[in-house]
Amino acid sequence: MRWNQRVFAGDLAGQLGKEVQLQGWVQYTRKSKKVRFLGLRDGSGILQVVLVQEECPAAAWETFSQLTQETALEVTGRVQASNQGQFPFELLCLDLKILSDSQAYPITPKEHGPDFLLSHRHLWLRSKKQVSLFKVRSTVIHAIHEFLTLHRFIKMDSPILTQTVGEDPAGLFSLSYHDLGKAYLAQTGQLYLEASIFAHERVFCFGPTFRAEKSKTRRHLSEFWMLEAEMAFFTHQDNLDLQEDLIQYIVQQVLEKCSWHLKQFNRDQEKLKKALNPFIRLDYSDAVKLLREKGQPIQWGDDLGALDETLLGEHFDQPLFVFNYPKVVKAFYMKSHPSDPNRVLCADLIAPEGHGEIIGGSERETDYEELKQRILAQGLPLQPYEWYLDLRKYGSVTHSGFGIGLERLVGWLVGLHHIREAIPFPRMLERIHP
Ligand code: 4AD
Ligand code: MG
Repeated sequence: MRWNQRVFAGDLAGQLGKEVQLQGWVQYTRKSKKVRFLGLRDGSGILQVVLVQEECPAAAWETFSQLTQETALEVTGRVQASNQGQFPFELLCLDLKILSDSQAYPITPKEHGPDFLLSHRHLWLRSKKQVSLFKVRSTVIHAIHEFLTLHRFIKMDSPILTQTVGEDPAGLFSLSYHDLGKAYLAQTGQLYLEASIFAHERVFCFGPTFRAEKSKTRRHLSEFWMLEAEMAFFTHQDNLDLQEDLIQYIVQQVLEKCSWHLKQFNRDQEKLKKALNPFIRLDYSDAVKLLREKGQPIQWGDDLGALDETLLGEHFDQPLFVFNYPKVVKAFYMKSHPSDPNRVLCADLIAPEGHGEIIGGSERETDYEELKQRILAQGLPLQPYEWYLDLRKYGSVTHSGFGIGLERLVGWLVGLHHIREAIPFPRMLERIHP
């Protein structure tokens, strides 16, 4: 059999009454007097296998009692309809063969604390909810590629080792790079995407990015995946419209393809559907006013804190753009507001239900002198940015872009309290193992 002919549990919809053979692992076992059940997990999900004594060879019936959690096995059976579990069908067992045993698997059906689970992340990934979570994450990644490709975007991978500070000089991981001095792990691929728009107009990158702030919040990872897009001939308004369309496409795809997986998290899908309505757009000054009415001590000129974002997200109950922040709280590359020099043309997208900022984006400064002064004003050395400033010399055009934090997006879609579960192997202030 060639690799692409292997049968998966998820492929059996049209096979009712047929005999098939599947491989996988034991997710659970249950038994009553005459009937025994096992959950068989393969790459497509978890299928219920039923053993009925009269229809099952004695040897297979006996083998069942040796099955432990995570035993690898091969099951032969007949496909029949079912209303239990992930699939509308199950397998009536005709034979059972153990491929490899599993002794004293540490993660049992009882409750385990987060520290224990994170220390066993290499095994925890097999748990039912975690399996569902990464099906959702993968669906999101796929939807993003699909949407962007459909709209003429080209993927331009950006480097991870850089000399430039993309976002915040205080949050850099640095290392020594051969004989060339210091290098940093990229906080963003944006500056490199900006170079690429002149070749392709619409580009994106999707890779790991690094933030060294010593933050312990439930929304912070030291290493996270960011989708960044950059578009030539794109205004600030175009940028918001595109982000809204992209997020709505992702939500639609997840609702359509991952409904069962969302149920594993008891996700209220009606709440998610609200994101299919037009997003709220709120001027930064109005956001400050609203927060002050809610008793927050924020002043005009302050950045929004985690609690501010939570309160705004809960107030509107659907995704919300806060736009045109004060220049002092945002990165050097954002375009100055044409009629208010204290502000920049930018927006953060804040997710509802307390999940905080999921997108940061802006129109980019195109004026060579203004950009140079902003770099200097941040206390950054000019030399590493000379190539970036060059981009403003040769056919510079209006352009905009944004970055989506994948784990925050998945965290919102699924309804996770802490985003550390939304990445296979989280890197945090106090964790780099396994
Ligand atoms: O707002 P940020 O810092 O924006 C940028 O990096 C821009 N260069 C993007 C661009 O315009 N091309 O980060 C973008 C998003 C945030 O909205 C958030 O979702 C996520 O990245 N993010 C984090 N996610 C997890 N852990 C962290 N420490 C994060 N920092 C940012
Ligand atoms: Mg941001």
